[in-house]
Amino acid sequence: MEIFIKKSFCSLVLLNILSLCYCLDNGLALSPPMGWLAWQRFRCNTDCENDPKHCISERLFMEMADLMVSEGYVKAGYNLISLDDCWLDKKRGSDGRLRPDPLRFPSGIRALSNYIHSRGLKFGIYEDYGNYTCAGYPGILNHMELDAQTFADWQVDYVKLDGCYSFPSQMDKGYPEFGYFLNRTERPMIYSCSWPFYQLINKMEPDYKTISNICHLWRNFEDIQDSWQSVTSIIDYYGDNQETLIPLAGPGHWNDPDMLIIGNFGLSYEQSRAQMCMWAIMASPLLMSVDLRTIRPEFKAILQNSEIIAVNQDPLGVQGRRIYKKQGVEIWTKPVLPMNGKKFSWAVVVLNRRVDGTPSQVTVPLRELGLDSEEGYHVRELNDHKDIGFLSKDQAIRVDVNPSGVVMLKCTIQRVPPFSP
Ligand code: GLA
Repeated sequence: MEIFIKKSFCSLVLLNILSLCYCLDNGLALSPPMGWLAWQRFRCNTDCENDPKHCISERLFMEMADLMVSEGYVKAGYNLISLDDCWLDKKRGSDGRLRPDPLRFPSGIRALSNYIHSRGLKFGIYEDYGNYTCAGYPGILNHMELDAQTFADWQVDYVKLDGCYSFPSQMDKGYPEFGYFLNRTERPMIYSCSWPFYQLINKMEPDYKTISNICHLWRNFEDIQDSWQSVTSIIDYYGDNQETLIPLAGPGHWNDPDMLIIGNFGLSYEQSRAQMCMWAIMASPLLMSVDLRTIRPEFKAILQNSEIIAVNQDPLGVQGRRIYKKQGVEIWTKPVLPMNGKKFSWAVVVLNRRVDGTPSQVTVPLRELGLDSEEGYHVRELNDHKDIGFLSKDQAIRVDVNPSGVVMLKCTIQRVPPFSP
């Protein structure tokens, strides 16, 4: 492949072979889940006395639910509000059931679930396969059947099951078992697993075939932190392990690189665009974790960019591939609809990880990206919603990519040969 970057010539062989996986499809998460999770921004702040606005309490989730609707997030496709750790009371009730912290969730979880549903949103909950959650609240071990039923009684739509305080060697049995109990309640719930992550850090090889049959999404890498360094470490993990990860993803089953941190403290504007575009091209769940009450408008616009979200939610559900990485520049591509015969349209992200103070000029012949349709492509830039125009397979795309930023393109395959007089 010949790509022109800042006057230096580089070459590499293209590897864009699609591997589609036909796994369990129970009708949920047919596109990557989109919603809002508390953890990354609000963590385990339980001090409602001194910090009532930011502590983990029913008030926080109700306020976020209201803003999801009034600020246009629901319209953009985000349809879930989920609890994370630290919602529980330290002890189960006398009936053995899980219960929320009574001071922070005085109305109870069923009432919160009703409130969130009344806003047209789905309601998610967090638990842990072990004895305790990561923050030390009661886990589900030895209570699986009851806890699955409790979640169904509370009308839960999404369960994130963490893996602290448990034995990773028991997860191949335990995660499917809880999935079985969830199914048996007959309430459809999206099942988000941390199963492969805990096995990987314990040097086990995850049984991904089973995992992708049981879970709708699963974490396989470290928790995201509020920094560009953390975002790029995740991008590297996904690029370096793509031969394993890409075949697993598809409608109903997704790799989960963790939450979007856009709008918080650690990412610049360019880096925020970069996270959004990378998560979109990796067909990753789009789970925001940000204070929707104070988010600045430019970050909200990134999170609500409809053309980028459409790439993420594309019905083919193929996870994008890193096809080029050299001199701080990466190119990622993802096949999307519409198709012309057997040929796809493509989303393309050019990611610039260089830190020189000027944008890098990247010139890529379409053919080198694997875009070889005789009819050519209509090319559009998705961050700024600009048409670049029609390009034939023999032409090249030239873009200027800002330092620690991206350019994201959609190359829509044309159906008729271009008019020639
Ligand atoms: C783990 C998970 C995080 C978060 C915390 C809560 O670290 O990976 O996403 O849920 O636990 O304690």
